[in-house]
Amino acid sequence: MPARAFVDCHSHVVPSGDDGARNVGEGVALCRDAVASGTRLLYATPHVWPDLRMHEARERRFREAAAELAALVEGLELRIGFELTPDRSLLDDDPRRYRLEGTAVCLVETPFSGGLATFFAVAEHVESAGLTPLIAHPERSLSLVGTPGHRDALLERDWPLQITASSLTGRSGADSEALAWRLLGDYDRVVVASDGHGHHRPARLDAAWAAVSERLGSEIAARAFGGAILGVAPATADAARPAASS
Ligand SMILES: [Fe+2]
Repeated sequence: MPARAFVDCHSHVVPSGDDGARNVGEGVALCRDAVASGTRLLYATPHVWPDLRMHEARERRFREAAAELAALVEGLELRIGFELTPDRSLLDDDPRRYRLEGTAVCLVETPFSGGLATFFAVAEHVESAGLTPLIAHPERSLSLVGTPGHRDALLERDWPLQITASSLTGRSGADSEALAWRLLGDYDRVVVASDGHGHHRPARLDAAWAAVSERLGSEIAARAFGGAILGVAPATADAARPAASS
């Protein structure tokens, strides 16, 4: 991966009625900031919550907003995906509709607290459709941080993991920071994503990339920020060029 041509597989930069960008203008600002920080391929992954499902009208509005936003931001390929919050109702859905565009991967978040039974059921449902669950921010799950047995049960599945960039720089607390670094250093299939929601948590990967490059070396940094684990890469040679303002 050329330095600073990041693939960010998890963000909420496209308005969808959840807690991400509130309108296209805010999304454009988040995307331009992402480009300035070195991101070249960015997935917009609205929440699919138990109480905010991806019904037809919501998905149509989301896709229209994504197309409008993509046309307003230069130097960025914006792709569509979704972030599944484990819920039994998802077991009645076809997981293929929730793939990260251009991959055979579904982003499934870990519960922030409580047991993991529903989480495992949903992740296995994804697998049964021939897809791979990408496990979102395990380092931020109290169920995993505080319970080594839960952690072992997850890690033995060998699913790829997605660490949130700001966890590596301490935003989620010392325990999450320590687990994020441990997972990134110990496992091959770990990607770093912004989970950018707004100005309070922007869609930037540059600070985490610099920290990982310094602490774990350029090979792990390239693997974690470059998209190879997902089988994707920025589309053009221009992607290798960092933006002037970065
Ligand atoms: Fe998210």
